[in-house]
Amino acid sequence: MVSYKEFGLSNTVDVFRKAVTGGYAIPGYNFNNMEQIQAIITACLETQSPVILQVSRGARKYANGTMLMYMAKGGVEMMREMAAERGLKQIPITLHLDHGDDFEICKECIDAGFSSVMIDGSHLSYEENVALSGKVAKYAHSQKDYVSVEGELGTLAGVEDDVKVEGGKAVYTDPDQVEDFVKRTGVDSLAIAIGTSHGAYKFKPGTDPKLAHGVLHEIEKRILGFPIVLHGSSSVPQEYVDTINSYGGGLKHAIGVPEDELRKAAKSAVCKINVDSDGRLAMTAAMRKVMVEKPSEFDPRKFLGPARDELVKLYKHKNISVLGCENTA
Ligand code: G3H
Ligand code: 13P
Ligand code: ZN
Repeated sequence: MVSYKEFGLSNTVDVFRKAVTGGYAIPGYNFNNMEQIQAIITACLETQSPVILQVSRGARKYANGTMLMYMAKGGVEMMREMAAERGLKQIPITLHLDHGDDFEICKECIDAGFSSVMIDGSHLSYEENVALSGKVAKYAHSQKDYVSVEGELGTLAGVEDDVKVEGGKAVYTDPDQVEDFVKRTGVDSLAIAIGTSHGAYKFKPGTDPKLAHGVLHEIEKRILGFPIVLHGSSSVPQEYVDTINSYGGGLKHAIGVPEDELRKAAKSAVCKINVDSDGRLAMTAAMRKVMVEKPSEFDPRKFLGPARDELVKLYKHKNISVLGCENTA
């Protein structure tokens, strides 16, 4: 058993409390390789924002859970070193399990030193979701150092490697259920479904890419001041899609959540916004460009370096202009 405090990590309790009252959201950025974590830490330190480093089941399968744990620890050390070199304040870093779908994976991550976990029981019936989320919260909260827990109510459409919804059908979160759910489970934050979805194909072409702000407002009223989380919040920047396609890619009708829709949500009780796909698009655009423009290049650093630079740009932009979390660390 390892305590996350030994790794220099924080849970989400304090940063969420400040975000809810401050009218901004903290980024939940996914990582599974070195360039991604370097870029996330650099961008969040330079914008002086707290950050939630997210590890999915797919990331653990790809990179090995222990490796990712030590990468996060390395991220904390890198942040401390950069902060001292540049005379910047250190930022709070959370290591969070993204979409844990059973008790065992949550327990494994808590025991290994994660400071926060998500228990995603949205594939279960309401009562089963309450029971599972409550069991995880009880275990997480009984640790020597309190581990925070994110639950989910409602289902997001879309398909990711390990995050699937049967038939791709989304169901908005029912505002009538949220108060009962947070009371009975004891979770620290709640992911809701209001029209976002995972991946790069969130809206059909020709439809209005809007979120259900009315549902969000109704939910907020039922659980005043309680931290709300949005998954599936990539904006799918068109310039990345165009670059990918102009350098041999084939992304058709990729559409994300408009930035102003997310900005509006972040000003309310939404205090965590999850982004993964946009990082993938940024990296792919930068790598395809170098590969096509410099066909004789074969040093992976020449592809991954520009990809990392592009990620830093992307995350800084999100923190400053979309989430509004600049200078909140
Ligand atoms: O929420 C889903 C994340 O984008 C993780 O995706 O399972 O492909 O790592 P992944
Ligand atoms: P995107 O696919 O929109 O980036 O969402 C990521 C996410 O929700 C991670 O949990
Ligand atoms: Zn998600």
